[in-house]
Amino acid sequence: MFIRRSYLYLLTASLRLVASQSSTAPNLTALYGPGLSLRAEIIYPSDPDYSADITPRWNLYDAPTYYGAIKPATDADVQHVVKVSAQNNISFLATGRGHGSTSTLAALHGIDIDLGNFRTIDLDAENNRLTVGGSVNFSQLFEPLNNAGKMLPFGNSRCVGLVGASIGGTVGNMQGILGLGVDYLDSVRLVTASGDLVEASKTKNADLFWGIRGAGHNFGIITSATFHLHDNVNGGMLTSVDLLYPGSANKTVYEALRTYDDNIPNELTLNVAAAYNATSGQGIMVVNVVWFGPEEEVTQHIQPFLAAGPTANNTKTVRWTDWWTVANFGGYTSPTAPDCTDGQYFNSYALDIKNTDPAVLATVFHDIVEFSKANPGFVGSFGIDRYPEAVTLSVPNGETAYAYRDTKSQVTFQSSYHPNSTLNDAANTLFQNARSAVQATSGFDHLAVYMNFAHGDEGPAVWYSREKLDNLTRLKREWDPKELFSFYQPVPLKYP
Ligand SMILES: Cc1cc2nc3c(=O)[nH]c(=O)nc-3n(C[C@H](O)[C@H](O)[C@H](O)COP(=O)(O)OP(=O)(O)OC[C@H]3O[C@@H](n4cnc5c(N)ncnc54)[C@H](O)[C@@H]3O)c2cc1C
Ligand SMILES: *[C@@H]1O[C@H](CO)[C@@H](O)[C@H](O)[C@H]1NC(C)=O
Ligand SMILES: *[C@@H]1O[C@H](CO)[C@@H](O)[C@H](O)[C@H]1NC(C)=O
Ligand SMILES: *[C@@H]1O[C@H](CO)[C@@H](O)[C@H](O)[C@H]1NC(C)=O
Ligand SMILES: *[C@@H]1O[C@H](CO)[C@@H](O)[C@H](O)[C@H]1NC(C)=O
Ligand SMILES: *[C@@H]1O[C@H](CO)[C@@H](O)[C@H](O)[C@H]1NC(C)=O
Ligand SMILES: *[C@@H]1O[C@H](CO)[C@@H](O)[C@H](O)[C@H]1NC(C)=O
Ligand SMILES: *[C@@H]1O[C@H](CO)[C@@H](O)[C@H](O)[C@H]1NC(C)=O
Ligand SMILES: *[C@@H]1O[C@H](CO)[C@@H](O)[C@H](O)[C@H]1NC(C)=O
Repeated sequence: MFIRRSYLYLLTASLRLVASQSSTAPNLTALYGPGLSLRAEIIYPSDPDYSADITPRWNLYDAPTYYGAIKPATDADVQHVVKVSAQNNISFLATGRGHGSTSTLAALHGIDIDLGNFRTIDLDAENNRLTVGGSVNFSQLFEPLNNAGKMLPFGNSRCVGLVGASIGGTVGNMQGILGLGVDYLDSVRLVTASGDLVEASKTKNADLFWGIRGAGHNFGIITSATFHLHDNVNGGMLTSVDLLYPGSANKTVYEALRTYDDNIPNELTLNVAAAYNATSGQGIMVVNVVWFGPEEEVTQHIQPFLAAGPTANNTKTVRWTDWWTVANFGGYTSPTAPDCTDGQYFNSYALDIKNTDPAVLATVFHDIVEFSKANPGFVGSFGIDRYPEAVTLSVPNGETAYAYRDTKSQVTFQSSYHPNSTLNDAANTLFQNARSAVQATSGFDHLAVYMNFAHGDEGPAVWYSREKLDNLTRLKREWDPKELFSFYQPVPLKYP
């Protein structure tokens, strides 16, 4: 039976009285129970099924803390939970697929509004329309889209929430051919800070829709979102080429990457990863190439990388949704593949760049390798993903809140280590220095970071760009003046 802890009873206690019973843990049952639909659930951390019932968090680093979770079943439930929370000054955060990782979330002590019941998929291939619930993940859409011969820009991890990613932008392997995921968003239904259910699109609440496209975590809870679709490119097939190099080849590999700064076909994506092999005590590099064209043509487009002398390679042509099954020498398919294993501890930093500087990148890689040697519990990686920008730039900058359309590559620094270790401070210093070093020759005159990859220490002018903040702060004052939706890269009411 679906119902586990449903709210069949009517409660008459005064809400405010009950709320004041405990300053730390409000009685969620008494507060929220009256007014929820029968299929909604309230789940406490002490419940035996708590972790099985709620959508798990991918990252435990600077995670929010919860009194408990409410799993609404209807839009009206979401409205009710937002209203009761606002009335009682209880902080909340919506969970889509749980991959949000910014350290700004650590400020949240409140309730988890788990959108796990919002997973519907309504695909209308004839009209190129897709309407999904607020917590649908990428992998859920693989089969429906393949069956329809349609594409939508996805991120590179199949386990991420479509809505959570898209309202920040969605960058990834599809960006070169299709542009940003956010540019496929046509309308959303969202519950705003006042508890109203509103629609936002280019014709309804158009200002709000502008802000949702790039800063969407700031204005409400999206219960459903409608996207338009793209017909399959290259018959829906891509060629994935992995090239392995010893760390000693890094300068040559980064020189190869630089040759694509000003000239790259839209059909080509280059994912360059550098890490430390603790067994050999050496650096290693893997370049993953994604090519949306005939397999036999890929070689001519990656000559600089082939000339750098890979020591192993792996070429596979698969459906676009199966990239993860072959890329990284099949590494993403392991049961413990880090991108899809929940409950890990990851400390991440990132930045956007328009310019590849091999000397700087080599220094940063060197520093990460030396740090790894000195700290055996530390597992770090350093990625540069070159996503062709031409299609992204075909949408005018002013059309959405998305900040950095002219970005050429996403740089990411990731590390994991035991949460109890004392490595936090040193790892933060390592990556903050690395981020500054790469920024200095990035082609941006300030730090620019994709908001969905940001560590959380950067601030709004970095996540959204100074030029977008006038619009965004005005929208925040209008739609969320009490800053209820201000735990994930918050837009302030005023800037500076
Ligand atoms: C392993 C990994 C790989 C990633 N790869 C990519 C990638 O290739 N490309 C890319 O662009 N991004 C990528 N991301 C970043 C990803 O886009 C963000 O983490 C995104 O916010 C995740 O959404 P979620 O629903 O999974 O996370 P959640 O933690 O559930 O949500 C994150 C934030 O979004 C808000 N949110 C979620 N759903 C809704 C909703 N329906 N309405 C309103 N607010 C909502 C939440 O309240 C929260 O503030 C990756 C992240 C991880 C951890
Ligand atoms: C919370 O409130 C419900 C309903 O009023 C009540 O049955 C329950 O005992 C309360 N729980 C606690 C811990 O006070
Ligand atoms: C609301 O709660 C926050 C802490 O969560 C507290 O700082 C603030 O003073 C409270 N506001 C009111 C009006 O109770
Ligand atoms: C994606 O959603 C489906 C359907 O709800 C679920 O079965 C699956 O576990 C989810 N996958 C990931 C990786 O989150
Ligand atoms: C990167 O390349 C430089 C120059 O060739 C070399 O000195 C350095 O050791 C390499 N770094 C790693 C981690 O192997
Ligand atoms: C790491 O080094 C060991 C020992 O040289 C080697 O066997 C292994 O294949 C290396 N791993 C990778 C991913 O290159
Ligand atoms: C790929 O590896 C095979 C051996 O597995 C080798 O024969 C071939 O030359 C390699 N190709 C490239 C481009 O390095
Ligand atoms: C601010 O929003 C309006 C639409 O409301 C838009 O036309 C304008 O370009 C936006 N400004 C920026 C800097 O994007
Ligand atoms: C880590 O620390 C927590 C509390 O700080 C403790 O409960 C836990 O046992 C520790 N784990 C390990 C493996 O040391």
